[in-house]
Parts: sequence; structure tokens; C-alpha cells
Amino acid sequence: MRHPSDSQRRADRLVVLGGKPPRAPGAVWLVGAGPGDPELLTIKALKALQGAQVVVHDGLVSDEILDLAPAGARRISVAKRKSRHTYSQGEINRMLVAFALEGLNVVRLKGGDPFIFGRGGEELEACREAGVACHVVPGVTAALAASASAGAPLTHRGSAQAVTFVTGHAAKGAEPDLDWTSLARPNHTVVIYMGLSMAAPIAARLMAAGRDPATPAMIVENASRADERRVVTTVAGLAEAAAALGGPALLVIGEAMALAREGEAENETLLKEARA
Ligand SMILES: C[S@@+](CC[C@H](N)C(=O)[O-])C[C@H]1O[C@@H](n2cnc3c(N)ncnc32)[C@H](O)[C@@H]1O
Repeated sequence: MRHPSDSQRRADRLVVLGGKPPRAPGAVWLVGAGPGDPELLTIKALKALQGAQVVVHDGLVSDEILDLAPAGARRISVAKRKSRHTYSQGEINRMLVAFALEGLNVVRLKGGDPFIFGRGGEELEACREAGVACHVVPGVTAALAASASAGAPLTHRGSAQAVTFVTGHAAKGAEPDLDWTSLARPNHTVVIYMGLSMAAPIAARLMAAGRDPATPAMIVENASRADERRVVTTVAGLAEAAAALGGPALLVIGEAMALAREGEAENETLLKEARA
């Protein structure tokens, strides 16, 4: 007589108990999609996408990148849109955890790097609290793409010994709460995310704290994308330059921006438009 195998015995026990076979736990992958150019996606990010059953993504992620996920994967946009319900961070956290607990492989796809102004830390904490496995795949953050396409290094021997990434985002009507004295130090590159609409007060604060108004600066919109636009200016000219742009953009300030490729014709056209 044949004896039942261990797995057969386990399956029989489940039938006797009337329970459903337990699902293998899923996992959450916090994946950096990079700044826009699909070629700047890492191989690890591509593999994570190819293994996704659910993709929860931001507005900054292009269709070209989303199309790398399997056709059968569920896609959920949690982009902030005026006309539609906007998911709160708590709702996004709960959604990620719930899908993973259902046994699904969830890719949380974010522009740039998930841990640079991407709220990836909060999602990681939510997964940890729920006992859900969470893996992080870094991405090329916008500052690196902006610096590369302008040909202006963020650190440079003799003119940029340090680089600081800050957010220009502030509560409505307020100014960003930043350490202006430290940001005004010379030979130091400052990259400001989400600061386009705050360019005027940011420039004024930096100059008031002692940053030379003639310090080179640039604003890069849609870095690495086909529609990238760049204005090369100075700290004193930041506000005017910002008025010419509107998309996701970075303000980059520092002596090393003297190396930024001008794109003279484009610069002039954009500034003319801003003055008109
Ligand atoms: C919520 S933050 C996300 C940053 C992202 N996690 C990263 O690492 O690049 C969004 C801001 O990043 C900047 N940004 C993102 N992608 C950009 C791009 N391709 N070009 C210029 N700035 C970009 C803009 O300042 C935008 O307002």
C-alpha cells in the first residue's frame, strides 16, 4: 500500500478543516522610475515591473514605462488630479498593504527615486508595521538627470564641494522653511525640488543670507524627457526665468552651474515669453 506524502497529508487536513489553502504572501516593491527617459530605468526596476501583478503609480511616470508591466497587471494611478478623487497617503499605504496581503506582487512606481521627496519612507513603514515584505529599487533622481543634460556637475573641484537637495514646497501662502544661512554658503550647489512657484522668495532669501546675486543658476523642466526645457541664469534672475516655465522643474543654484550649456536661442525665447 502506498503511503500519502507529507504534502498530500497537509492538503487532506485542509479539506477536513474546510479551510482555503493559505495564499503565499505577496510583497511590495517601491520602484524608482527615474526622471522620465525610459532608458534611465534600472535593469532591476525593469525586472520588478515585469513581475508585477499590480502597479500603483504616480502622475510623473510615463505610459512608455508603464507599458513595460505585463498586459494583465492591474494599473492604478494615484496621481493628484483636480477632477478626480485624490488618494491620501494613508489610503495609498493601506492599498499597498491590502494587495500584498491578498498574495499579490505590488509595484509602487514613483518618479525619480522613491526616497528623494517621494514619500517612499512612509510606505515602507506601513509595510513593516503590517508585516509585509517591502523591497526598494532606487531610481535616477531628477537632479542627476538635470545636471547631466545641462553638462553641469553638481560637485566640481574648486567650485562645488557639496550639494544639498531641498524642497521648495511650503504650506499654502507660506515660504519654505529652510536653513538659508547654510544654503547661502559659496562653492556649494543647492538643488530645489518643487520650488518653481517659490523661485522669487527663494532667490530673495538666498541673497539676503549672503549668496552672491551673480551666482550661476539654472532651471530645468522635464529633465531627460523629449520636451525638456532649460533656462540658464543667475540667482538674481531666477524669478524671471521661473515665470517662463511651468512643468515639473528643478532650480539648481551654484558656482558649478557656470558650466551649464546655454541653449542660447531657447533661453532667449523663454525669457522673452516670460517678459511679454
Ligand atoms: C514629489 S517630487 C518627486 C521627486 C522624485 N522622487 C525624484 O527623485 O526626482 C516632484 C518634484 O521633482 C522634480 N522633478 C521630478 N521629475 C522631474 C523632471 N523630469 N525634471 C525636472 N524636475 C523634476 C520637480 O521639482 C517636481 O515638482
